[in-house]
Amino acid sequence: MEYSVENIRTRFPALASGAVFFDGPGGTQVPQAVIDAVAGYYRDANANEHGFFPTSRRSDAVISQARQAVADFLNAHEAAEIIFGANMTTLTLHLARALGRTLKAGDEIVVTRLDHDANIAPWLHLQESGAMVRWLEIDPADCTLKLDALERTLSRKTRIVAVGFASNAFGTINDVPRILAAAKKVGALTFVDAVHYAPHRAIDVQLLDCDFLACSPYKFYGPHSGVLFGKREALERLQPYKVRPAGDMIPDSFETGTKNHEGIAGIAAAVDFLAALGRDSGPDQAPGLEAVAAGRRRWLKQALAAIQDHETRLFSRMLEGLLALPGLRVYGITDPKRFSQRTPTACFTLPGLAPAVIAGKLGAAGIHVWEGNYYAWEPMKFLGLEEKGGAVRAGLCLYNKDEEVDRFLEILRNIIRGAI
Ligand SMILES: Cc1ncc(COP(=O)(O)O)c(C=O)c1O
Repeated sequence: MEYSVENIRTRFPALASGAVFFDGPGGTQVPQAVIDAVAGYYRDANANEHGFFPTSRRSDAVISQARQAVADFLNAHEAAEIIFGANMTTLTLHLARALGRTLKAGDEIVVTRLDHDANIAPWLHLQESGAMVRWLEIDPADCTLKLDALERTLSRKTRIVAVGFASNAFGTINDVPRILAAAKKVGALTFVDAVHYAPHRAIDVQLLDCDFLACSPYKFYGPHSGVLFGKREALERLQPYKVRPAGDMIPDSFETGTKNHEGIAGIAAAVDFLAALGRDSGPDQAPGLEAVAAGRRRWLKQALAAIQDHETRLFSRMLEGLLALPGLRVYGITDPKRFSQRTPTACFTLPGLAPAVIAGKLGAAGIHVWEGNYYAWEPMKFLGLEEKGGAVRAGLCLYNKDEEVDRFLEILRNIIRGAI
């Protein structure tokens, strides 16, 4: 398959504005297909679930097709293992509360210092049950996890290990297979925050063999929403907090109240948009759900591999330019030989210029970047950045291109020279 960034860009109406969207780690733009799916839901299927009339039946179909699409995106064994929710944070708080019911004093939970607070605070709350939280720490040299302490941090008392797949601040991709293998050895349940990882690499929950994994479709070209995967047996062992008339079987038992149906329609369209990028040029799949799922799983893998190639090449250009700027400091892995261990998300500071000032100047020039802590509060505090206004974050994604990187670097040069 051929990766044409110009062709891909034509699918995203927001890009026609000419703005440079390097704010992807905070949320990506959406293709027209997602906009159409959301609008189409309102036009053709707008109703609550499980009624005996056409719009409700269509609504049921939209939701079950989207569940299958997300199962394909994550390579889950079955669609019932996919839970829709408001966002990753809400789903994680909800899951943690259910897990909290199974804990007792003396149990331990392992979290990492590198994570977004949505994968820390929900577990800290569980200390109310008497459980203790233990930390995997950061190596400040390259913002990776200090995994030499992994086995020491885990023990027979460890009940839950919660780890991020990739840092939304520094782009570090953690060695999740190694961490999960160690967790399993001591009999702990495993939770993976894949929010920052999902737009950049294919996810395979069966290969990972994690118990739970969460991500947010609005980071991979879909609507503002969240998705939680749970292994059937892991979900069924829990008693989620719920209202009594709601179903007792998964996924209903975990989905509180009416879902964001139009958003769910958009999630399926986002997955299909990605799958289409990796579609073989051969004949169409034979009809049938299983064939569609199998084809979509393969295309998604191929698409994400092509996206990784594109993003890595572009990131090399960005990082080389950033490292050449006087005084600029990049946090995280900078060695190109280790780019497979990171996403294309650059985090940097400039001496004497607050991150908000830099982001303001870039924003005025039409370049969208985030600044501050992006809720990666623990690592920002740990690196001493929190008191200084955090850092600037410029993240690349599938629709970014060379000219945008060059324009960004040019503006930064002007900021440093004091020209703007
Ligand atoms: C790594 C990571 N985890 C969790 C979250 C929280 O996701 P949500 O906004 O869906 O609650 C984010 C959002 O920025 C994130 O980047």
